[in-house]
Amino acid sequence: MVSLLAKIPLLAQETGTTELVKKVAQEIAEVGQHTAETVGYHAATTSIFVWGSYLVAAALFVLSLKWLSHPKSSRHGVLAGEIGMALAVIGTLLMYDVVSYTWVLVGVAIGTAIGAPMAIWMPMTAVPQRTALSHAFGALAAALVGAAHYYETPSMDSFSMVVLVIEVLLGTLTFTGSLVAFGKLQELIPSSIKGIPHHNLINLGLLAGAIAMGCWLVIAPGHWVAFLMLIILGLAFGLFLVIPIGGADMPTVISLLNSYAGLSASMMGFVLDNYLLIIAGALDGSSGLILSIIMCKAMNRSFTNVLFGRMETNLIANADDVYGGKVKSATAEDVAMILDGVQRVIVVPGYGLAVAQAQHTVRELATLLEAEGVTVEYAIHPVAGRMPGHMNVLLAEADVPYDQLKELDEINPTFAQCDVAIVIGANDVVNPLANTDPTSPIAGMPILKVSDARTVVVIKRSLSPGFAGIPNPLFAQDNCLMLFGDGKQALVELVAAVKAQ
Ligand code: TAP
Repeated sequence: MVSLLAKIPLLAQETGTTELVKKVAQEIAEVGQHTAETVGYHAATTSIFVWGSYLVAAALFVLSLKWLSHPKSSRHGVLAGEIGMALAVIGTLLMYDVVSYTWVLVGVAIGTAIGAPMAIWMPMTAVPQRTALSHAFGALAAALVGAAHYYETPSMDSFSMVVLVIEVLLGTLTFTGSLVAFGKLQELIPSSIKGIPHHNLINLGLLAGAIAMGCWLVIAPGHWVAFLMLIILGLAFGLFLVIPIGGADMPTVISLLNSYAGLSASMMGFVLDNYLLIIAGALDGSSGLILSIIMCKAMNRSFTNVLFGRMETNLIANADDVYGGKVKSATAEDVAMILDGVQRVIVVPGYGLAVAQAQHTVRELATLLEAEGVTVEYAIHPVAGRMPGHMNVLLAEADVPYDQLKELDEINPTFAQCDVAIVIGANDVVNPLANTDPTSPIAGMPILKVSDARTVVVIKRSLSPGFAGIPNPLFAQDNCLMLFGDGKQALVELVAAVKAQ
């Protein structure tokens, strides 16, 4: 059973879903028979249920990640993850070494009281902050479990102590790091706070100190001073690691902290001898790391620069120089006239679409145009919005068909064959400065080449910059018209104008 648990990710990869399910069922039956013969029927039933739920949960976690990698199957992915987690919790609660259910219930009540309002009332645009908070709590839990385990068993073998030290170090640094990330994204910590001089040196010192404490604990277990120092150094390291990192890199950092929290949970699995925790933590840790690297690539940011909080000194172009008298604004009726008789329209959604919650109205506009025989597609930039897959989630809410969503590489060569590109609340992801100004904060970031379209219509409230804080020369280009207004309101007016034609 144990070896099968460890092999689940590999099996899913090699043999596919059906084979994996068969293998899991067969293993549960074999273990059940063996346990019933050795320890009796009652103990065997509990054991089968616990191990069976662990096996199924592990398989569901792997399938969940697999399904989440495509918009079409992502709903199944979420469901699989939820069922897997429910099974994991139920299985764990049935284990013989749970000594008191009272405290478990208190924890469930407190967790629900904090988590449910966050899930219900926090807007989708605040998901990065919410995620940072969840990581902070998860990592704190891992560090506390590690501390409790050390309190109960201060002397342990070297392997267990190494694992415990890693768990506590990753847990504490992820706790403070995630709180700082939350504070920065929620603007509770001013973005002007960029840390202190030589922060990388200080960080190296803190890390070296924590490793030294860890070595001390491995060589001579049972030293509370060393353990407390490990906790303090871990907390300080997380603080100093994230404070110098700029807001633009924060979603990447959150994904990286997710990876650390996962690794900490995986180490906790070794400490508690819980195989499911090892698997779930390892899946969390590796997927978080892969996501961070994908995000860095999509923004053309160096992974080490993000990690070490290196700030580029950018010369930000002056907005007056960029726009001065060149921006043309249009009304909804003007845009409706331009849309009359077109053949192909590309919609480019951005963060503003999420803020305005205009996804249903944009779908309504697309349906109207499609009824006139127009081909409508959606250009999805990998870092549009504020979290990975943000635009996919938004458009899925409005039931936009998946095959109309086109990724950057696929859609870019086709903008030249597009009559109108409608940019809704997007800014940085269509900013040509990324290609033309090597000093800009988004230099080198691949952008959607909307300016190749015959006409570009940009819907946003003003000429305010986007996340990167820089002006956008696209708005001043000859083929660009600005339809100023809140994304939803402007689209409602545009739909009315198209209907009135
Ligand atoms: P942004 O460049 O942030 O621009 C969003 C625009 O939306 C703003 O210029 C704003 O202009 C407009 N807006 C805000 N509220 C609006 C409303 N109610 N109606 C209409 N427009 C509204 O967005 P983007 O183009 O999606 O780029 C994303 C940025 O986030 C990139 O810089 C990217 O690097 C960064 N980022 C993203 C991620 C992920 S994973 N998605 C991760 C890290 C960083 P007005 O105020 O004038 O309306």
